[in-house]
Amino acid sequence: MKEIKGLLFDLDGVIVDTAKYHYLAWKELAGKLNIPFTEKDNERLKGVSRMKSLEIILEIGGLKLSGEEKEEYCTYKNEIYLKYIHKLKKEEVLPGVNEFLADAREKGYRIALGSASKNAGIILSRLNLVGAFDAVIDGTKVKTAKPDPEVFLLGAKELGLSREACIVFEDAKAGVDAAHNGGMKAVGIGTKENLPNADICIPGLFGTNINEIIKQLS
Ligand code: BG6
Ligand code: MG
Repeated sequence: MKEIKGLLFDLDGVIVDTAKYHYLAWKELAGKLNIPFTEKDNERLKGVSRMKSLEIILEIGGLKLSGEEKEEYCTYKNEIYLKYIHKLKKEEVLPGVNEFLADAREKGYRIALGSASKNAGIILSRLNLVGAFDAVIDGTKVKTAKPDPEVFLLGAKELGLSREACIVFEDAKAGVDAAHNGGMKAVGIGTKENLPNADICIPGLFGTNINEIIKQLS
């Protein structure tokens, strides 16, 4: 394995558990459309773009809408979601994240965010984490969604590193596949059962550090 110099982190589910807020917002919208929507259904939305998430919900309800209507519902969902995000507390950062990032930075690694979310800026700022990243690539900067590797390739580029010098931390299957499609190794945050394609799996960033991860990967 080439020497690793860059670390690319997904946001939702890796840095912070926002899935519960996405769920509450989608649930409210689904209720408005009379579509039953459960926490199990919400699992299908992880790592998936806002529009694709809506399309999955419409599919569950057997409902077809025009492009314009879909745009309106996405905006509506995001307004509900943002009400939760505006109240997000820095204590909601996932366990071990601050320590892991600080230690990696001290060791000289370059660090980027690679997220599908168009709300990454506000979330990082609510968590006091803006300064923890050398580059932030989010849903406002990319054209194609994971599993396309665009978000991670752009991350490596903004860090000034080759793809082989970077690894990805991801909690969603689409994100693990995006890393592999970009020629990078993927550290799965979760279980091997949920992320069978990940190169290694860890339950979270708590109690580990970058040296340990790289040792496990090589
Ligand atoms: C991903 C989440 O990180 O971002 C998805 O896992 C979400 O659930 C996607 O749909 C887009 O997020 P946002 O904040 O732009 O609606
Ligand atoms: Mg995620």
